[in-house]
Amino acid sequence: MNSLAGRKIVVASHNAGKLREFAELMAPFGIEAASAKDYGLPEPEETGTTFEENAYIKAFAAAKATGLPAMSDDSGLCVDALDGAPGVYTADWASRPDGSRDFMMAMEKTEALLAGKGATEPAQRTGRFVAVLCLCEPDGTAEYFRGEAEGTLVWPPRGSDGFGYDPVFQPDGFDVTFGEMTAEQKHGWKPGQETALSHRARAFQKFARARLGSA
Ligand code: IMP
Repeated sequence: MNSLAGRKIVVASHNAGKLREFAELMAPFGIEAASAKDYGLPEPEETGTTFEENAYIKAFAAAKATGLPAMSDDSGLCVDALDGAPGVYTADWASRPDGSRDFMMAMEKTEALLAGKGATEPAQRTGRFVAVLCLCEPDGTAEYFRGEAEGTLVWPPRGSDGFGYDPVFQPDGFDVTFGEMTAEQKHGWKPGQETALSHRARAFQKFARARLGSA
């Protein structure tokens, strides 16, 4: 497998939180990461029903438009008591009619559904963040890297670091939420290190080992 280290790749996302995390994860490898935003690319409609399908739609659109390898991230929060919802619709739960996103509203909706199920104890509020990274070449050839982070949904939200649903997600083994962690703590990983914590860092670690020559 050829190495991508030192090459330019497009991060097929317009999400500021994801772009920041990718820049942090890619920095040690000397990859020049340009975002879909930098190229003025439109956001394709995510019509898939799986993380993999949506990740491919985004990565292929960016690779085809730029002629460069593109990496996308399709991710979401899967809550066990809600049969895996919001899942691939995690971003949609934050959508307002005017097209803006409101994650407090999305977290409140999740909480209302959990309360409706009588899920008040931590054991009834388990779930995971999932991230599927798709690396796609302009010819449509694709590889996938999946990472998951298990945890518990807490209420009220805690912490103002991070993005999206970070303030209500407490990863297993910690007493703080992703929203209360520094970026470094949330990734929980550096090249050459065994463990990673967040779903995105776990997926990225697999990518780095497969395509960046990371230990
Ligand atoms: P999509 O991949 O563009 O469909 O959006 C996934 C959504 O999942 C994001 O808009 C966030 O709300 C949420 N999400 C994904 N990863 C994270 C994370 O690391 N922290 C908090 N929320 C996340």
